Amino acid sequence: MQHNNVLILDFGSQYTQLIARRVRELNIYCEIHPFNKIPSNLDRFNAVILSGSPFSVRGENALHPDLTEIRGKKPLLGVCYGAQYLAHFSGGEVAPSNTREYGRANLSYIKEGEDFFKLIHEGSQVWMSHSDTIKDLPTGAVLLASTRDVKNAAYKIEGEDTYAIQFHPEVYHSVDGKQLLHNFLVDIAGLKQDWTPQSFIEETVEELKVKLGNDKVVLGLSGGVDSSVAAMLLNKAIGKNLYCIFVNNGLLRKNEFQDVLDQYQDMGLNVKGVDASARFLDALEGKSDPEEKRKTIGRVFIEVFDDEAHQIQEVKWLAQGTIYPDVIESVSATGGPSATIKSHHNVGGLPDFMKLKVVEPLKLLFKDEVRRVGASMNMDKQLLGRHPFPGPGLAIRILGDITPEKVRILQEVDAIFINNLKSWNLYDKVWQAGAMLLPVNSVGVMGDERTYEKCVALRAVESTDGMTADWVNLPYEFLQKTSNEIINKVKGVNRVVYDISSKPPATIEWE
Ligand code: XMP
Repeated sequence: MQHNNVLILDFGSQYTQLIARRVRELNIYCEIHPFNKIPSNLDRFNAVILSGSPFSVRGENALHPDLTEIRGKKPLLGVCYGAQYLAHFSGGEVAPSNTREYGRANLSYIKEGEDFFKLIHEGSQVWMSHSDTIKDLPTGAVLLASTRDVKNAAYKIEGEDTYAIQFHPEVYHSVDGKQLLHNFLVDIAGLKQDWTPQSFIEETVEELKVKLGNDKVVLGLSGGVDSSVAAMLLNKAIGKNLYCIFVNNGLLRKNEFQDVLDQYQDMGLNVKGVDASARFLDALEGKSDPEEKRKTIGRVFIEVFDDEAHQIQEVKWLAQGTIYPDVIESVSATGGPSATIKSHHNVGGLPDFMKLKVVEPLKLLFKDEVRRVGASMNMDKQLLGRHPFPGPGLAIRILGDITPEKVRILQEVDAIFINNLKSWNLYDKVWQAGAMLLPVNSVGVMGDERTYEKCVALRAVESTDGMTADWVNLPYEFLQKTSNEIINKVKGVNRVVYDISSKPPATIEWE
């Protein structure tokens, strides 16, 4: 089935991905492409949105693509830079604004009877982020809305389905932003809202069946959301021809290997659990540099996975849980498209499984969409809501060198912390949480005895993507109870601290 498709041309705004997410929340499919790589086949797009940008249309290096195949031919919406672009290069004037508008503003005028502003009223809060302003509208334009400081906050071009807005409908603080996108895409452009998790599942499974036929596919499960949802989709398409491998690197959470393995088996997956703990811990012995630990774990993982993949006769494909943010080519601060983040090269020297053909069933989805797809397949809520957990696991939460005893201590501490978050209904309010084992001993007193034991740090952060994060204001009572329980139950720990650093300047993990 062919869905409607919206082309979002990226001019490098920090909000471009948010535009895509809002459009998809309306159950309309969309793709992001860099402004200077407009897809050659425009027939497959039913509407176009121009994003914002850190650049100025007045600058020498203004980003200036040729829109003759788009403008006037398809419904077109310019946002911020996009609106200034449509003004500046079409007879209007863009100038530096006297009052730079950042943040909250309210619509003080809306032209009556316009579908574009259906169900949106004067006073509606919008979010601005610009230092240039549209002084004169372009040829053929009609003013649609103003704020106190920005007269030309929205306009349309007479005789075309071309609309432009100075504010950002995609950000949460533009309260009617989603309604506005709905008005443009559904009422004006006439798009159908038929791209749902269920339709995605049905179509993806059909595509996978055709693509993979009777071929065998190998997939590394991590216990995380992406690889699990990818496995479920492939399982629906090819069943037992999907060979899943779940590796225990000895650095998972307490009991996680067995629990997750059982869960995968209950889901009907053809999964092999490989306990390679000893191999990883041996390789890590005596290593205390964080990057060296990461590299060692990466290398051993590839060795283990390669060994296992070789045992599957005639496997042709490697499946990965890559998601859309990993494949979007975004525009960098210098105006050029930045490099694709992940690539797969069939070059010599790589392990054999890397030479397999790659299938990535989630590469069109954002993280929240992956969760919705998982929920539509009735996958366990706990699995779908699991906090992110780093690939190197507890190795980067044990500062310094790693021993089996340190792993045991940290697993115990982490289990108490995480279980308490769950029982206090705090787990889902936190984006990521975990404990760090510090490379210091401190003096304590237990009973009448002096102790000289380990110190652990607890960390709980809120974030949307891990790029920035803030510590969570957990209730004192919770911290008090958790700290007591850790010190009383975990042999070898006599002190607990709570990390109150944000990222930046700190990072989420300590290593
Ligand atoms: P930082 O510590 O950089 O972490 O603020 C941001 C997010 O990335 C995770 N993280 C990793 N994930 N391999 C991974 O797969 C790694 O080496 C790694 N280091 C950090 C971290 O848990 C957080 O979610």
